[in-house]
Amino acid sequence: MKHLLGLESLDREEILSLLKKGKEYREWLDEVYEKRRQPLPHLKGRRICLLFYEPSTRTRHSFEIAGRLLEADVTSFSLAVSSVQKGESFKDTLLTLESMGFDLFVIRHSYSGACFYASNILRRASVVNAGDGMHEHPTQTLLDLLTIYRARNKVEGLRIAIVGDILHSRVARSAIFALNKLNWNIHICAPPTLLPKDVEKFNVKVFHRLEEAIKDVDVIYMLRIQRERQKEQFFPSLEEYSRLYRLTSQHLSLAPGAMVMHPGPVNRGVEMEGTVVDGGESFILDQVRNGVAIRMAILHSILGEEKR
Ligand code: NCD
Repeated sequence: MKHLLGLESLDREEILSLLKKGKEYREWLDEVYEKRRQPLPHLKGRRICLLFYEPSTRTRHSFEIAGRLLEADVTSFSLAVSSVQKGESFKDTLLTLESMGFDLFVIRHSYSGACFYASNILRRASVVNAGDGMHEHPTQTLLDLLTIYRARNKVEGLRIAIVGDILHSRVARSAIFALNKLNWNIHICAPPTLLPKDVEKFNVKVFHRLEEAIKDVDVIYMLRIQRERQKEQFFPSLEEYSRLYRLTSQHLSLAPGAMVMHPGPVNRGVEMEGTVVDGGESFILDQVRNGVAIRMAILHSILGEEKR
């Protein structure tokens, strides 16, 4: 694998192979945290640049930790104090940093297609998509699948309800691409204004009522309202949205034993009640730790197996 730009272009076997590696890294990671074991030298001498043009806590830090646990040199690009503030273009920023010897760029950008563009501009370095606009967020879906795989011991043919701002969500798009390849039954649930116009082509079942969407699913996957991407008013008020679509502890009896997941950051009280975020069905913090493991697997697959 030279780049990871999205899950639309990966096949079932490639997804399953990354999950298998991620699972091994997760077991190793638990030992590191419990027994303070040393990093692995697989990526010693390789240089990784975290090029984030949008805010991030989980994705950026987990890539950073994943790279360091494989002994790569990891540099975090600081947008606010970079020459981007003096008007330097994305293209020139990429070529400048590549000339310094970076082998891989982890890129987050508000422009859908930024990672594909970067992979064409760069001459040698690899690109991993850490979220491009409203397009894809492949590593998020892979960590979510790893979380399900570990909890359920299977990752194919299950039922999921994805609830919330589907229209603006790159997480939902990557999930839908991958879950279709793994033969899932996909419910999506949102007010009509927060659904893509061409939603039928995604092979999903559309619901507008939360109670109907989550009935008997294996996974309830909640999304944040992406106010930073909304250029118009998509619903009357946040209170109204919340009244209809917030997941509460009462809802959980409609899907006994379902895993509750969220990519974070959670707006407590808006899309999910705080008690559900912290409750026994919530896998949110497990998702975060699996984020480190799956990103180790991805970095290793790209940089470790490449001819030096
Ligand atoms: C997501 C993102 O940035 O797309 N967050 C994340 O990476 N964990 C989802 C979101 O911001 O709501």
